[in-house]
Amino acid sequence: MTLLEVKNLNVELLTKGGYARALDGINLSLESGEILGIAGESGSGKTMTALTLLGLLPNHSKISGSLKFSGTELVGIDQKRMRDIRGREISMVFQDPMTSLHPMLSIGTQLTEHMITHLGLSKNEAREKAIDLLTEVRIPDPQRSLDAVPSQFSGGMRQRICIAMALACDPKLLLADEPTTALDVTVQAGILNLFRRLRDKHGLSIIFITHDLGVMSSLTDRLLVMYAGREVESGKTSTLLQNPRHPYTRGILDSLPDISGSKKKLKAIMGFPPELGKQPLGCAFHNRCPFNTPQCESHVIPLTTLDSHHRFYCDIDPLKGDS
Ligand SMILES: Nc1ncnc2c1ncn2[C@@H]1O[C@H](COP(=O)(O)OP(=O)(O)OP(=O)(O)O)[C@@H](O)[C@H]1O
Ligand SMILES: [Mg+2]
Repeated sequence: MTLLEVKNLNVELLTKGGYARALDGINLSLESGEILGIAGESGSGKTMTALTLLGLLPNHSKISGSLKFSGTELVGIDQKRMRDIRGREISMVFQDPMTSLHPMLSIGTQLTEHMITHLGLSKNEAREKAIDLLTEVRIPDPQRSLDAVPSQFSGGMRQRICIAMALACDPKLLLADEPTTALDVTVQAGILNLFRRLRDKHGLSIIFITHDLGVMSSLTDRLLVMYAGREVESGKTSTLLQNPRHPYTRGILDSLPDISGSKKKLKAIMGFPPELGKQPLGCAFHNRCPFNTPQCESHVIPLTTLDSHHRFYCDIDPLKGDS
C-alpha cells in the first residue's frame, strides 16, 4: 500500500533577497514497510524535505504541489490537524540526540509526555509502554533508565532513546535525519540494525537521510539523490549504486574511500553547489559536471526513466555505453 505520495513539491523560503526556491519539483513515493534513502551534499534539501513532510517550514514559506500521506493531502491542511499527524503518525529522529532530549528531565518524563498527550494514556499505562519501548530499542535495565537523565547515557544510547520517543505513538512513518552521523561506526551499525528490525517487525516506513552512500547501501530499499533542491536520480538502491547514471551520483560514489586496501586517489567533485535561489533553468550541477555542454545550463532537463523505476535528469547521458 502506498503510504506517501509526493508530487511536484515546491518550497520557497523567504530570505533577505526575497523568495528562494529550496525544493524544486520533488516527486517521491513510499510504500508501507519500505525504507527510502535521501542522499546528497550539504544544502541539497534533505532536511527541508523532511521538515516539509512534518509541516515545520520556516515562517512565511510558500509551498505548492501535492503531499498525500495515508490518503490525506497535507499541503494546505489546517495546523491543528497537522499537529495531530506530527508526532503521532509521522515522527522524526534528528542527527544530534541532545537537540531532541531535554537535559534536565528524566527519560521517563520525556517518553511518557507524548503518550499522555497524543494517546490519552494514564501515567501508569504510559510508564508501562515506555518500559516496552526502551526494551525494544535495547536500553539495558529499562525500568531504572526511566528515572535517569540524558547525560547518564552514551551518545549511542541517547540516540536509541530518541528513536524510542519517536516510536512512542506508533507512527506509520519515521523520518530519520542523519541519525548515525555523530556516532562511531560500531554504534552506527547497531542503530542501523535497529531501524531494520523496526521495519521488519512493525512494518514501519522509514525515510532515512544521509550523505553517506555506504550507509544507504546497507539499509535502504530505494534511493533518492538530491542536488540543489531537486531530484537528480532515484531508483532501487542496488540498481542505482551499481549503475549510477547521473554524473553527480557517479561523482559522489567516486569520492567514497575504498576499504579493500587499494590506495587509489579519491576523486573529489570540484566546485560548489549553487546558492539558494540561484539554480539555473537547466541542470544545477552543470558547472561541476565533466560532461557539461552549453545547453545543460539553459534548457529544462527531461526525465529519463529506465527499467524498474530507475530514473534520472541528464539528457547528455555520457554514461550510456557503460551499462
Ligand atoms: N530556515 C531557513 N531559512 C533560509 N534558508 C534555509 C533555511 N533552512 C535551510 N535553508 C537553506 O535551504 C537549503 C537546503 O537546506 P537543508 O537543510 O535541507 O540541506 P541538507 O541537504 O539537509 O544539508 P545538510 O547535509 O548540511 O544537513 C540550503 O541552501 C539551506 O541554506
Ligand atoms: Mg540536513
